[in-house]
Amino acid sequence: MKEEIRKRLENAVKTLEPYRSYGQMVSDAINNVKKLHSLVEDPTGNLDEALSIVNAMVSQLGPYSSYMPEVAETLKVTQEWLTGLKEKPPERPQKPETPELSVAKYAKKELVAIIQAQSGMSTRAQIPRDPSMINMMAGDPDFNQPDFIGKAVYDAIQEGHTHYSFGGDPEFKAAIADYYKKYGVKVDPSTQVIIESGGSQAIFRSFGAILNPGDEFLVLDPAYGGYSTPAAYFGAKMTRAKMKKDAKGLFRPDMESIKAAITDKTKGMLICNPDNPCGTVYTEAELKALADLVVDKDIVVIADEIYTEFVWGDHKHRSIINLPDMWERTMVLMSFSKTFAWTGCRAGYIIAGPELSKLVSNVPTGICSMPVAFQRAGIVALREGWGFVDEMRKAYKERIDAMVPRLNEIEGISCPYPEGAFYLFPDISGTGLPSMRFMMELMQREKVLGAPGMIYGPNGEGHVRFALVKPKEKLLEACDRIERFVNGLK
Ligand SMILES: Cc1ncc(COP(=O)(O)O)c(C=O)c1O
Repeated sequence: MKEEIRKRLENAVKTLEPYRSYGQMVSDAINNVKKLHSLVEDPTGNLDEALSIVNAMVSQLGPYSSYMPEVAETLKVTQEWLTGLKEKPPERPQKPETPELSVAKYAKKELVAIIQAQSGMSTRAQIPRDPSMINMMAGDPDFNQPDFIGKAVYDAIQEGHTHYSFGGDPEFKAAIADYYKKYGVKVDPSTQVIIESGGSQAIFRSFGAILNPGDEFLVLDPAYGGYSTPAAYFGAKMTRAKMKKDAKGLFRPDMESIKAAITDKTKGMLICNPDNPCGTVYTEAELKALADLVVDKDIVVIADEIYTEFVWGDHKHRSIINLPDMWERTMVLMSFSKTFAWTGCRAGYIIAGPELSKLVSNVPTGICSMPVAFQRAGIVALREGWGFVDEMRKAYKERIDAMVPRLNEIEGISCPYPEGAFYLFPDISGTGLPSMRFMMELMQREKVLGAPGMIYGPNGEGHVRFALVKPKEKLLEACDRIERFVNGLK
Protein backbone atom coordinates (compact mmCIF):
# COMPACT_ATOMS: atom_id res chain seq x y z
CA MET A 1 0.00 0.00 0.00
CA LYS A 2 2.79 2.37 0.87
CA GLU A 3 4.23 2.17 -2.62
CA GLU A 4 0.84 2.80 -4.20
CA ILE A 5 0.36 5.90 -2.06
CA ARG A 6 3.81 7.24 -2.88
CA LYS A 7 3.03 6.77 -6.59
CA ARG A 8 -0.28 8.60 -6.16
CA LEU A 9 1.48 11.47 -4.34
CA GLU A 10 4.08 11.71 -7.12
CA ASN A 11 1.22 11.98 -9.65
CA ALA A 12 -0.50 14.59 -7.47
CA VAL A 13 2.64 16.73 -7.60
CA LYS A 14 2.67 16.39 -11.39
CA THR A 15 -1.02 17.41 -11.51
CA LEU A 16 -0.50 20.45 -9.28
CA GLU A 17 2.80 21.68 -10.73
CA PRO A 18 1.29 23.47 -13.81
CA TYR A 19 -0.89 25.56 -11.46
CA ARG A 20 1.99 26.70 -9.23
CA SER A 21 1.78 30.24 -10.60
CA TYR A 22 -1.90 30.47 -9.51
CA GLY A 23 -0.86 31.46 -6.07
CA GLN A 24 0.60 30.63 -2.69
CA MET A 25 -2.06 28.11 -1.86
CA VAL A 26 -1.06 25.85 -4.79
CA SER A 27 2.67 26.09 -4.14
CA ASP A 28 2.03 25.29 -0.45
CA ALA A 29 -0.04 22.31 -1.56
CA ILE A 30 2.82 21.09 -3.81
CA ASN A 31 5.31 21.40 -0.94
CA ASN A 32 2.96 19.60 1.44
CA VAL A 33 2.38 16.73 -0.99
CA LYS A 34 6.14 16.40 -1.45
CA LYS A 35 6.56 16.41 2.35
CA LEU A 36 3.89 13.73 2.65
CA HIS A 37 5.71 11.70 0.02
CA SER A 38 8.82 11.67 2.13
CA LEU A 39 6.98 11.09 5.42
CA VAL A 40 5.14 8.01 4.22
CA GLU A 41 8.45 6.39 3.36
CA ASP A 42 8.66 5.45 7.06
CA PRO A 43 5.20 6.23 8.36
CA THR A 44 5.52 4.68 11.85
CA GLY A 45 7.88 7.34 13.15
CA ASN A 46 6.05 10.21 11.38
CA LEU A 47 2.38 9.33 11.69
CA ASP A 48 1.24 12.37 13.63
CA GLU A 49 2.99 14.86 11.39
CA ALA A 50 1.79 13.14 8.19
CA LEU A 51 -1.77 12.95 9.48
CA SER A 52 -1.87 16.58 10.47
CA ILE A 53 -0.64 17.60 6.99
CA VAL A 54 -3.10 15.40 5.15
CA ASN A 55 -6.04 16.41 7.39
CA ALA A 56 -5.30 20.09 6.82
CA MET A 57 -5.01 19.57 3.05
CA VAL A 58 -8.25 17.61 2.84
CA SER A 59 -10.15 20.39 4.56
CA GLN A 60 -8.43 23.13 2.50
CA LEU A 61 -9.04 21.35 -0.79
CA GLY A 62 -12.62 20.47 0.13
CA PRO A 63 -14.35 23.26 -1.86
CA TYR A 64 -12.04 22.74 -4.87
CA SER A 65 -11.92 18.98 -4.93
CA SER A 66 -14.09 18.70 -8.01
CA TYR A 67 -11.45 20.68 -9.95
CA MET A 68 -8.77 18.14 -9.17
CA PRO A 69 -10.51 14.84 -8.45
CA GLU A 70 -7.29 12.71 -8.68
CA VAL A 71 -5.56 14.90 -6.11
CA ALA A 72 -8.61 14.85 -3.84
CA GLU A 73 -8.81 11.06 -4.19
CA THR A 74 -5.09 10.70 -3.43
CA LEU A 75 -5.41 12.76 -0.26
CA LYS A 76 -8.45 10.76 0.83
CA VAL A 77 -6.74 7.44 0.29
CA THR A 78 -3.61 8.71 2.06
CA GLN A 79 -5.69 9.99 4.97
CA GLU A 80 -7.51 6.65 5.34
CA TRP A 81 -4.30 4.69 5.19
CA LEU A 82 -2.55 6.86 7.76
CA THR A 83 -5.58 6.80 10.08
CA GLY A 84 -5.65 3.01 9.82
CA LEU A 85 -1.98 2.87 10.72
CA LYS A 86 -2.54 5.11 13.71
CA GLU A 87 -5.21 2.77 15.03
CA LYS A 88 -3.22 -0.38 14.38
CA PRO A 89 0.48 0.19 14.03
CA PRO A 90 2.11 -2.20 11.63
CA GLU A 91 4.21 -4.90 13.10
CA ARG A 92 7.78 -3.80 12.91
CA PRO A 93 9.76 -6.15 10.77
CA GLN A 94 11.79 -8.32 13.13
CA LYS A 95 15.48 -7.71 12.94
CA PRO A 96 17.27 -10.89 12.02
CA GLU A 97 18.60 -12.43 15.25
CA THR A 98 22.26 -11.70 15.80
CA PRO A 99 23.83 -15.12 16.02
CA GLU A 100 25.23 -15.59 19.53
CA LEU A 101 28.93 -15.04 19.46
CA SER A 102 30.58 -18.10 20.87
CA VAL A 103 34.17 -17.54 21.81
CA ALA A 104 34.31 -21.07 23.17
CA LYS A 105 35.50 -22.32 19.82
CA TYR A 106 38.74 -20.37 20.22
CA ALA A 107 39.37 -21.41 23.81
CA LYS A 108 40.97 -24.37 25.45
CA LYS A 109 38.16 -26.77 26.14
CA GLU A 110 39.36 -27.41 29.69
CA LEU A 111 39.01 -23.72 30.54
CA VAL A 112 35.56 -23.53 29.02
CA ALA A 113 34.53 -26.55 31.09
CA ILE A 114 35.76 -24.81 34.25
CA ILE A 115 33.92 -21.62 33.46
CA GLN A 116 30.73 -23.57 32.87
CA ALA A 117 31.18 -25.55 36.06
CA GLN A 118 31.80 -22.38 38.02
CA SER A 119 28.96 -20.33 36.58
CA GLY A 120 26.69 -19.20 39.36
CA MET A 121 29.20 -20.27 41.97
CA SER A 122 30.86 -16.98 42.63
CA THR A 123 29.50 -14.80 45.35
CA ARG A 124 32.26 -12.24 44.89
CA ALA A 125 30.49 -10.47 42.02
CA GLN A 126 27.38 -10.16 44.10
CA ILE A 127 28.96 -8.47 47.07
CA PRO A 128 27.23 -5.15 47.45
CA ARG A 129 29.39 -2.23 48.58
CA ASP A 130 27.84 -1.92 51.95
CA PRO A 131 29.65 -0.61 55.01
CA SER A 132 27.55 -2.80 57.29
CA MET A 133 28.72 -5.97 55.50
CA ILE A 134 31.21 -8.08 57.46
CA ASN A 135 33.25 -9.49 54.63
CA MET A 136 35.27 -12.60 55.48
CA MET A 137 35.40 -13.92 51.96
CA ALA A 138 38.90 -13.37 50.58
CA GLY A 139 42.06 -14.15 52.52
CA ASP A 140 43.36 -10.61 52.25
CA PRO A 141 44.87 -9.65 55.63
CA ASP A 142 43.52 -6.47 57.19
CA PHE A 143 47.01 -5.42 58.32
CA ASN A 144 48.94 -2.79 56.42
CA GLN A 145 52.65 -3.00 55.85
CA PRO A 146 54.76 -1.24 58.41
CA ASP A 147 56.27 2.03 57.19
CA PHE A 148 59.80 0.75 57.12
CA ILE A 149 58.92 -1.69 54.36
CA GLY A 150 57.25 0.99 52.28
CA LYS A 151 60.32 3.15 52.84
CA ALA A 152 62.54 0.30 51.68
CA VAL A 153 60.65 0.24 48.37
CA TYR A 154 61.10 4.00 48.04
CA ASP A 155 64.79 3.84 48.93
CA ALA A 156 65.35 1.05 46.41
CA ILE A 157 63.84 3.16 43.65
CA GLN A 158 65.90 6.17 44.72
CA GLU A 159 69.00 3.99 44.67
CA GLY A 160 68.28 3.02 41.07
CA HIS A 161 66.95 -0.51 41.57
CA THR A 162 64.69 0.03 38.61
CA HIS A 163 66.38 -2.09 35.96
CA TYR A 164 65.97 -5.61 34.67
CA SER A 165 66.89 -8.30 37.11
CA PHE A 166 67.08 -11.47 35.06
CA GLY A 167 66.70 -14.44 37.35
CA GLY A 168 65.93 -12.24 40.38
CA ASP A 169 68.01 -10.14 42.73
CA PRO A 170 70.79 -12.40 44.09
CA GLU A 171 70.72 -10.81 47.55
CA PHE A 172 66.97 -11.37 47.76
CA LYS A 173 67.40 -14.99 46.76
CA ALA A 174 70.13 -15.41 49.37
CA ALA A 175 67.85 -13.87 52.03
CA ILE A 176 65.11 -16.36 51.08
CA ALA A 177 67.48 -19.33 51.26
CA ASP A 178 68.57 -18.09 54.66
CA TYR A 179 64.99 -17.80 55.85
CA TYR A 180 64.04 -21.26 54.64
CA LYS A 181 66.81 -22.81 56.74
CA LYS A 182 64.42 -22.54 59.68
CA TYR A 183 62.61 -25.60 58.23
CA GLY A 184 65.85 -27.53 58.18
CA VAL A 185 66.21 -27.05 54.43
CA LYS A 186 69.46 -25.84 52.96
CA VAL A 187 69.22 -24.54 49.43
CA ASP A 188 71.58 -23.00 46.93
CA PRO A 189 69.99 -19.60 46.25
CA SER A 190 71.36 -19.31 42.75
CA THR A 191 69.91 -22.59 41.46
CA GLN A 192 67.08 -23.48 43.83
CA VAL A 193 65.23 -20.26 44.57
CA ILE A 194 63.01 -18.89 41.81
CA ILE A 195 61.40 -15.50 42.36
CA GLU A 196 57.72 -15.27 41.44
CA SER A 197 55.23 -12.47 41.50
CA GLY A 198 53.08 -14.03 44.19
CA GLY A 199 51.86 -17.49 45.05
CA SER A 200 49.57 -17.51 42.03
CA GLN A 201 52.46 -17.17 39.61
CA ALA A 202 54.28 -19.86 41.56
CA ILE A 203 51.28 -22.15 41.01
CA PHE A 204 51.18 -21.31 37.32
CA ARG A 205 54.87 -21.90 36.71
CA SER A 206 55.17 -25.04 38.80
CA PHE A 207 52.19 -26.52 36.95
CA GLY A 208 53.61 -25.36 33.63
CA ALA A 209 56.89 -27.08 34.42
CA ILE A 210 55.33 -30.53 34.58
CA LEU A 211 51.89 -30.63 33.01
CA ASN A 212 51.15 -31.62 29.44
CA PRO A 213 47.74 -31.96 27.80
CA GLY A 214 46.16 -35.22 28.88
CA ASP A 215 48.08 -35.47 32.14
CA GLU A 216 46.25 -35.88 35.39
CA PHE A 217 47.04 -33.76 38.40
CA LEU A 218 45.78 -34.72 41.82
CA VAL A 219 44.57 -32.33 44.49
CA LEU A 220 42.96 -33.18 47.76
CA ASP A 221 39.32 -32.41 48.32
CA PRO A 222 38.54 -29.81 49.68
CA ALA A 223 41.26 -27.74 47.97
CA TYR A 224 41.99 -24.05 47.45
CA GLY A 225 40.30 -22.95 44.23
CA GLY A 226 43.33 -21.35 42.58
CA TYR A 227 44.71 -24.62 41.23
CA SER A 228 42.00 -25.56 38.77
CA THR A 229 42.40 -22.87 36.12
CA PRO A 230 46.19 -23.18 35.72
CA ALA A 231 45.89 -26.99 35.53
CA ALA A 232 43.22 -26.62 32.85
CA TYR A 233 45.31 -24.02 31.04
CA PHE A 234 48.04 -26.58 30.57
CA GLY A 235 45.48 -29.10 29.36
CA ALA A 236 45.69 -31.33 32.43
CA LYS A 237 42.77 -32.99 34.10
CA MET A 238 42.49 -32.20 37.78
CA THR A 239 41.50 -35.19 39.84
CA ARG A 240 40.55 -35.16 43.51
CA ALA A 241 41.15 -37.42 46.48
CA LYS A 242 38.75 -36.93 49.35
CA MET A 243 40.23 -35.86 52.66
CA LYS A 244 38.80 -37.51 55.74
CA LYS A 245 37.79 -35.84 59.00
CA ASP A 246 39.69 -36.68 62.16
CA ALA A 247 38.12 -36.97 65.60
CA LYS A 248 38.27 -33.17 66.02
CA GLY A 249 36.48 -32.62 62.72
CA LEU A 250 39.54 -31.43 60.77
CA PHE A 251 39.97 -32.66 57.21
CA ARG A 252 43.17 -34.74 56.86
CA PRO A 253 44.85 -36.43 53.89
CA ASP A 254 43.54 -39.96 53.47
CA MET A 255 46.19 -42.28 52.06
CA GLU A 256 43.66 -44.81 50.79
CA SER A 257 41.76 -42.32 48.69
CA ILE A 258 45.02 -40.73 47.46
CA LYS A 259 46.35 -44.12 46.38
CA ALA A 260 43.07 -44.91 44.63
CA ALA A 261 43.10 -41.60 42.76
CA ILE A 262 46.59 -41.99 41.30
CA THR A 263 46.50 -43.44 37.79
CA ASP A 264 49.09 -44.03 35.06
CA LYS A 265 48.38 -40.53 33.81
CA THR A 266 48.96 -38.80 37.15
CA LYS A 267 51.95 -36.51 36.81
CA GLY A 268 51.87 -34.95 40.20
CA MET A 269 49.89 -34.06 43.27
CA LEU A 270 49.44 -30.98 45.34
CA ILE A 271 49.40 -30.60 49.07
CA CYS A 272 48.58 -27.36 50.82
CA ASN A 273 50.37 -27.35 54.14
CA PRO A 274 49.16 -25.59 56.28
CA ASP A 275 45.94 -26.10 54.46
CA ASN A 276 43.60 -23.49 53.12
CA PRO A 277 40.62 -23.91 53.60
CA CYS A 278 40.81 -26.82 56.07
CA GLY A 279 43.35 -25.50 58.59
CA THR A 280 45.26 -28.80 58.72
CA VAL A 281 48.99 -28.90 59.40
CA TYR A 282 50.50 -32.13 58.12
CA THR A 283 52.09 -34.37 60.70
CA GLU A 284 55.48 -35.96 60.23
CA ALA A 285 53.77 -39.32 59.73
CA GLU A 286 51.43 -37.94 57.08
CA LEU A 287 54.29 -36.35 55.18
CA LYS A 288 56.33 -39.53 55.41
CA ALA A 289 53.44 -41.67 54.12
CA LEU A 290 52.88 -39.25 51.25
CA ALA A 291 56.57 -39.11 50.38
CA ASP A 292 56.76 -42.91 50.31
CA LEU A 293 53.75 -43.06 48.04
CA VAL A 294 54.92 -40.44 45.55
CA VAL A 295 58.37 -42.03 45.34
CA ASP A 296 56.71 -45.38 44.78
CA LYS A 297 54.39 -43.96 42.11
CA ASP A 298 57.14 -41.78 40.67
CA ILE A 299 55.18 -38.55 40.66
CA VAL A 300 55.95 -34.96 41.64
CA VAL A 301 54.67 -33.10 44.71
CA ILE A 302 53.82 -29.44 44.64
CA ALA A 303 53.73 -28.24 48.23
CA ASP A 304 51.87 -24.97 48.67
CA GLU A 305 53.32 -23.69 51.94
CA ILE A 306 52.27 -20.09 51.88
CA TYR A 307 50.82 -20.20 55.41
CA THR A 308 53.92 -21.59 57.14
CA GLU A 309 54.20 -18.61 59.46
CA PHE A 310 50.73 -19.20 60.84
CA VAL A 311 50.80 -22.45 62.77
CA TRP A 312 48.98 -22.71 66.08
CA GLY A 313 49.57 -24.39 69.43
CA ASP A 314 52.07 -27.23 69.48
CA HIS A 315 51.83 -27.86 65.78
CA LYS A 316 54.94 -27.46 63.74
CA HIS A 317 55.43 -26.80 60.07
CA ARG A 318 57.54 -29.40 58.28
CA SER A 319 58.36 -29.42 54.62
CA ILE A 320 58.01 -32.57 52.53
CA ILE A 321 60.97 -31.48 50.40
CA ASN A 322 63.20 -32.44 53.33
CA LEU A 323 62.29 -36.11 53.25
CA PRO A 324 64.47 -38.74 51.54
CA ASP A 325 64.33 -38.74 47.71
CA MET A 326 62.04 -35.73 47.66
CA TRP A 327 64.50 -33.08 46.47
CA GLU A 328 64.01 -33.51 42.77
CA ARG A 329 60.35 -34.35 42.98
CA THR A 330 59.12 -31.44 45.13
CA MET A 331 58.38 -27.82 44.35
CA VAL A 332 57.63 -25.68 47.40
CA LEU A 333 55.46 -22.65 46.68
CA MET A 334 55.79 -19.64 48.93
CA SER A 335 54.30 -16.17 48.96
CA PHE A 336 54.80 -12.95 50.87
CA SER A 337 51.08 -12.27 50.47
CA LYS A 338 50.15 -13.79 53.79
CA THR A 339 53.51 -13.79 55.57
CA PHE A 340 53.93 -10.03 55.33
CA ALA A 341 50.35 -9.06 54.39
CA TRP A 342 51.68 -8.12 50.96
CA THR A 343 48.81 -9.33 48.82
CA GLY A 344 48.99 -6.37 46.47
CA CYS A 345 52.78 -6.35 46.12
CA ARG A 346 52.90 -9.67 44.27
CA ALA A 347 55.84 -11.38 45.89
CA GLY A 348 56.56 -15.07 46.06
CA TYR A 349 59.04 -17.79 45.25
CA ILE A 350 59.54 -21.47 44.52
CA ILE A 351 62.09 -23.72 46.16
CA ALA A 352 62.98 -26.90 44.30
CA GLY A 353 65.87 -29.15 43.38
CA PRO A 354 68.24 -27.75 40.73
CA GLU A 355 66.81 -29.84 37.87
CA LEU A 356 63.19 -29.05 38.64
CA SER A 357 64.16 -25.41 39.11
CA LYS A 358 65.47 -25.29 35.55
CA LEU A 359 62.12 -26.58 34.28
CA VAL A 360 60.24 -23.96 36.28
CA SER A 361 62.48 -21.15 35.05
CA ASN A 362 61.75 -22.17 31.49
CA VAL A 363 58.01 -21.63 31.85
CA PRO A 364 57.80 -18.36 30.00
CA THR A 365 56.25 -15.61 32.03
CA GLY A 366 58.63 -13.17 30.39
CA ILE A 367 59.65 -10.22 32.42
CA CYS A 368 56.30 -10.22 34.22
CA SER A 369 57.87 -10.61 37.59
CA MET A 370 58.17 -9.22 41.06
CA PRO A 371 59.33 -5.59 40.67
CA VAL A 372 62.98 -5.16 41.57
CA ALA A 373 62.37 -2.42 44.15
CA PHE A 374 60.02 -4.79 45.95
CA GLN A 375 62.63 -7.54 45.80
CA ARG A 376 64.98 -5.14 47.57
CA ALA A 377 62.27 -4.36 50.14
CA GLY A 378 61.77 -8.11 50.49
CA ILE A 379 65.32 -8.34 51.84
CA VAL A 380 64.40 -5.77 54.50
CA ALA A 381 61.16 -7.60 55.30
CA LEU A 382 63.00 -10.90 55.75
CA ARG A 383 65.54 -9.19 58.00
CA GLU A 384 63.39 -6.83 60.06
CA GLY A 385 59.75 -7.78 59.46
CA TRP A 386 59.36 -10.49 62.09
CA GLY A 387 58.00 -8.22 64.82
CA PHE A 388 55.19 -7.31 62.45
CA VAL A 389 54.58 -10.98 61.65
CA ASP A 390 54.42 -11.70 65.40
CA GLU A 391 51.79 -9.01 65.84
CA MET A 392 49.67 -10.47 63.06
CA ARG A 393 50.13 -13.97 64.41
CA LYS A 394 48.99 -12.85 67.86
CA ALA A 395 45.94 -11.11 66.43
CA TYR A 396 44.95 -14.11 64.28
CA LYS A 397 45.30 -16.44 67.26
CA GLU A 398 43.08 -14.21 69.37
CA ARG A 399 40.53 -14.13 66.59
CA ILE A 400 40.56 -17.92 66.31
CA ASP A 401 40.24 -18.33 70.08
CA ALA A 402 37.32 -15.94 70.18
CA MET A 403 35.42 -17.14 67.17
CA VAL A 404 35.68 -20.94 67.31
CA PRO A 405 33.91 -21.38 70.68
CA ARG A 406 31.34 -18.78 69.74
CA LEU A 407 30.50 -20.58 66.48
CA ASN A 408 30.25 -23.87 68.36
CA GLU A 409 27.53 -22.35 70.55
CA ILE A 410 25.32 -22.09 67.48
CA GLU A 411 23.04 -25.07 66.95
CA GLY A 412 23.76 -26.83 63.66
CA ILE A 413 27.32 -25.49 63.37
CA SER A 414 30.43 -27.34 64.40
CA CYS A 415 33.82 -25.71 64.02
CA PRO A 416 37.19 -27.35 64.74
CA TYR A 417 40.16 -25.27 65.80
CA PRO A 418 42.50 -24.90 62.84
CA GLU A 419 46.07 -26.10 63.32
CA GLY A 420 47.36 -23.53 60.86
CA ALA A 421 46.41 -20.64 58.54
CA PHE A 422 43.80 -18.05 59.45
CA TYR A 423 40.58 -19.55 58.16
CA LEU A 424 37.74 -21.34 59.88
CA PHE A 425 35.98 -24.08 57.97
CA PRO A 426 32.95 -24.93 60.08
CA ASP A 427 30.55 -27.73 59.24
CA ILE A 428 27.13 -26.15 58.72
CA SER A 429 25.34 -29.28 57.53
CA GLY A 430 23.31 -29.33 60.77
CA THR A 431 21.48 -26.22 59.57
CA GLY A 432 20.04 -28.18 56.65
CA LEU A 433 21.17 -25.64 54.07
CA PRO A 434 23.61 -26.35 51.24
CA SER A 435 26.70 -24.16 51.53
CA MET A 436 25.92 -21.81 48.64
CA ARG A 437 22.41 -21.15 49.87
CA PHE A 438 23.65 -20.72 53.42
CA MET A 439 26.13 -18.10 52.28
CA MET A 440 23.79 -16.25 49.92
CA GLU A 441 21.03 -16.04 52.49
CA LEU A 442 23.40 -15.10 55.29
CA MET A 443 24.73 -12.32 53.10
CA GLN A 444 21.29 -11.05 52.19
CA ARG A 445 19.68 -11.33 55.59
CA GLU A 446 22.53 -10.56 57.97
CA LYS A 447 25.23 -9.00 55.80
CA VAL A 448 27.89 -11.53 56.64
CA LEU A 449 30.04 -12.86 53.86
CA GLY A 450 32.20 -15.95 53.66
CA ALA A 451 32.91 -18.56 51.01
CA PRO A 452 30.62 -21.54 50.42
CA GLY A 453 32.47 -24.82 50.96
CA MET A 454 31.37 -26.31 47.65
CA ILE A 455 33.77 -24.02 45.76
CA TYR A 456 36.63 -26.05 47.25
CA GLY A 457 35.32 -29.29 45.79
CA PRO A 458 32.39 -31.66 46.37
CA ASN A 459 33.83 -32.72 49.73
CA GLY A 460 33.66 -29.08 50.91
CA GLU A 461 29.87 -29.10 50.63
CA GLY A 462 28.25 -28.73 54.03
CA HIS A 463 30.93 -26.25 55.12
CA VAL A 464 31.69 -22.57 54.77
CA ARG A 465 34.97 -20.74 55.04
CA PHE A 466 35.51 -17.59 57.02
CA ALA A 467 38.77 -15.67 56.53
CA LEU A 468 39.67 -14.06 59.83
CA VAL A 469 40.71 -10.80 58.24
CA LYS A 470 38.65 -8.50 60.43
CA PRO A 471 39.24 -7.29 64.00
CA LYS A 472 38.06 -9.64 66.75
CA GLU A 473 35.08 -7.44 67.67
CA LYS A 474 33.80 -7.55 64.10
CA LEU A 475 34.19 -11.32 63.99
CA LEU A 476 32.19 -11.68 67.19
CA GLU A 477 29.52 -9.42 65.77
CA ALA A 478 29.49 -11.67 62.71
CA CYS A 479 28.93 -14.66 65.02
CA ASP A 480 25.92 -12.90 66.58
CA ARG A 481 24.50 -12.33 63.14
CA ILE A 482 25.20 -15.93 62.09
CA GLU A 483 23.44 -17.16 65.23
CA ARG A 484 20.41 -14.98 64.54
CA PHE A 485 20.35 -16.22 60.95
CA VAL A 486 20.57 -19.90 61.95
CA ASN A 487 17.95 -19.53 64.68
CA GLY A 488 15.67 -17.91 62.13
CA LEU A 489 15.84 -21.05 60.00
CA LYS A 490 14.00 -23.14 62.59
C1 LIG B 1 46.71 -21.85 49.39
C2 LIG B 1 46.97 -20.65 48.57
N1 LIG B 1 47.88 -20.72 47.59
C3 LIG B 1 48.16 -19.67 46.80
C4 LIG B 1 47.50 -18.46 46.98
C5 LIG B 1 47.81 -17.30 46.08
O1 LIG B 1 48.73 -16.47 46.68
P1 LIG B 1 49.06 -15.02 46.12
O2 LIG B 1 48.04 -14.10 46.67
O3 LIG B 1 50.42 -14.72 46.63
O4 LIG B 1 49.02 -15.08 44.64
C6 LIG B 1 46.54 -18.34 47.99
C7 LIG B 1 45.82 -17.08 48.18
O5 LIG B 1 44.89 -16.96 48.91
C8 LIG B 1 46.28 -19.47 48.81
O6 LIG B 1 45.39 -19.40 49.80
